[in-house]
Amino acid sequence: MEVVKNIKNVVVLTKLHNTVFEKVDSLNPSKNIVALKKAANILKNNGLVAFPTETVYGLGANALKEDAVKKIYIAKGRPSDNPLIVHIADKNDIYPLVDSVPKNALILMDKFWPGALTIILKKSSIIPITTSGGLDTVAIRMPNNKIALSLIKECGFPLAAPSANTSTKPSPTLATHVYKDLNGKIDMIIDGGSCAFGIESTVVEVFYDNINILRPGSITKEMLETVITNVTIDKAITDTNLNLLPKSPGMKYKHYAPLGDVFIVDGEINNIVHYILKSLKNDKENNIKSIVIASSETINNYSSFNTLNIGSRQNLNLIAKNLFNTLRECDNLNIDKIYIESFLEQGVGLAVMNRLKKAASYKIINV
Ligand code: TXA
Ligand code: MG
Repeated sequence: MEVVKNIKNVVVLTKLHNTVFEKVDSLNPSKNIVALKKAANILKNNGLVAFPTETVYGLGANALKEDAVKKIYIAKGRPSDNPLIVHIADKNDIYPLVDSVPKNALILMDKFWPGALTIILKKSSIIPITTSGGLDTVAIRMPNNKIALSLIKECGFPLAAPSANTSTKPSPTLATHVYKDLNGKIDMIIDGGSCAFGIESTVVEVFYDNINILRPGSITKEMLETVITNVTIDKAITDTNLNLLPKSPGMKYKHYAPLGDVFIVDGEINNIVHYILKSLKNDKENNIKSIVIASSETINNYSSFNTLNIGSRQNLNLIAKNLFNTLRECDNLNIDKIYIESFLEQGVGLAVMNRLKKAASYKIINV
């Protein structure tokens, strides 16, 4: 991987790479041990391999090697101050990576690992500063996906892995999404089918008597409260005042955005439908290619316009699973304007709305 241009703190890759694409059985990865060994070999040589997790696809590199990790930032066009999550295959593998493991972290690991929970702790000296984006803390997670776990074990070292998309684009929930963004920029893509959750892990900071959610995800506040009494949600998530500096650096950048302009329409459901219908009609008259991302309960209202069904309002987990693919579909259809109905900010709905608000650059129309 060569020839880079420096634009502020983002390095852009210009030279193409030969990307290998291999399918691996998600239920029994050992059936494809040759492909897994090939991937591990690439990673041992400081290369980049995209692999599935239960949340989204990750772009993996040896978390302990500066030279390997640097390539992740280049391939994604990711700002260098946005730290990476370090993935491990065994709970005990956390100890060499951090200063100490406080009691609340042990409780969380015991209840939620392997799973979609990322824990932030003070880093040990073996974590390069490039992995932690310049911070003295490190984010760690043990994924609940057989391919990811087998790959990490095969490597024998932890894998730094952000979502395997180009920076600013929706996260990948299928190997074809990774291919679209990163073909020619990374060494290998492991295709393990679709990701079970489709939305990234919950990121938490751990303190002596509380934990603080920096990024909502599929492990909800309510789930965390079953084992920790004091769970807070960081102000940067609940407050849409963009001047608030997020503690999770990734949350300050443009994110999850399709090429078209996204508008969230919020309010009572009949008002939402009425407003979107009026806007779609208006766009049609003005030759603007627009679409509505609607729930299965409301989609029939829009039958004379472009629609994408994101799933039933009764099943927010399904909406989370469909979210990024639906946003990517808008790009495939060359859509200029995207209207999306808002969802309840409850349970996993908090994570869904958090990603949507970012995709919409906080353009929310209250009706
Ligand atoms: O589900 C996931 O978490 C996926 C899969 C691949 O594991 N990974 C993922 O990584 O979403 P990424 O890099 O796209 O998002 C990591 C988030 C960013 O918002 C980043 O700023 C935050 O975690 N983060 C990482 N290390 C941090 C730290 N030390 N302190 C605060 N935030 C941190
Ligand atoms: Mg990401």
